[in-house]
Amino acid sequence: MLDTILKRFTQEDPRNKVPKHKRIEHIMGKAINDPLVNKHLYNGLLPPNLIKGKTVLDCGPYIFLSGAWSLYHSASFVTGVELNRAFVSIGKKTIDEFYNDTQYDLQHRTIEDLVQNDDNFYDVILIAGTIQKLPNKHDFLHWAVEHSNYIIIESNQTSMWHYLLEKPKWWTEPETTVFDSVYKNFDKEILNELLNSEKYGAWFQDFIENKLPLHQYSINTAWSKIGGTSRNTATNYVSPNFFEYFFTYKGWEYQSIHSDYLTKHMPDYYTFPRRYCVAYKKVGT
Ligand SMILES: C[S@@+](CC[C@H](N)C(=O)[O-])C[C@H]1O[C@@H](n2cnc3c(N)ncnc32)[C@H](O)[C@@H]1O
Repeated sequence: MLDTILKRFTQEDPRNKVPKHKRIEHIMGKAINDPLVNKHLYNGLLPPNLIKGKTVLDCGPYIFLSGAWSLYHSASFVTGVELNRAFVSIGKKTIDEFYNDTQYDLQHRTIEDLVQNDDNFYDVILIAGTIQKLPNKHDFLHWAVEHSNYIIIESNQTSMWHYLLEKPKWWTEPETTVFDSVYKNFDKEILNELLNSEKYGAWFQDFIENKLPLHQYSINTAWSKIGGTSRNTATNYVSPNFFEYFFTYKGWEYQSIHSDYLTKHMPDYYTFPRRYCVAYKKVGT
């Protein structure tokens, strides 16, 4: 049945239904018309042994393949919080082919509203490809650490790189010295290592010069700069390691199993510098 789930969600993906000449074959670095890609992706994001018997919340689940995936792998309940009404409707229609709605709750709701009003606890929270859409990431992160023990989250640094990879330089501000004050020594060491590396050095140098505005703490790409043309696609990035600092400060520990899986099984998509999903786990749980 898993193969049928993957096939049906891939067929119903609106991105695969646009006229051929307008079709995007790859998005966020992955082919979207191949059920096997989705299989690897969700194995990496929501590994079966992690979600078995657990309650799962996906923030920004798109058409909620994560929902059917989680139930197939014996999650006890799965919730999706999705802003886009059309995605919710496709998601409900498709998951209903396999599961009934006593096992899931796909809500047409904003994450902002969830954070204000939801006091449920979720064993596992997934937020992939979505946190950069939230202008206020602090509220979400503060809520999430109080309402879960395990959070799978897109690593902000590589996600930002991913979006910027194919884009020409678009920011106008001159370089400043903020780099020196914002970045910790550890970051600088890593950046310097990359700059000096035989494998990535030249690429990274070019990237820093032409693609990545390292001097900005928070980058609001506003409308249509990156990722689309509507208000909902406005994208707001934070500087490298923002999430790492947040979770470490809260005393949580870093888990690399998700990014390890993606790097191993989807090297075409997730090997440096493509995006990784990492996780943070509350210590002692
Ligand atoms: C780039 S897609 C990522 C989809 C999926 N999680 C994945 O990894 O492929 C971002 C999703 O988040 C939803 N979204 C964006 N902002 C949101 C918000 N404030 N509240 C709820 N959903 C939101 C979008 O409608 C979209 O479905």
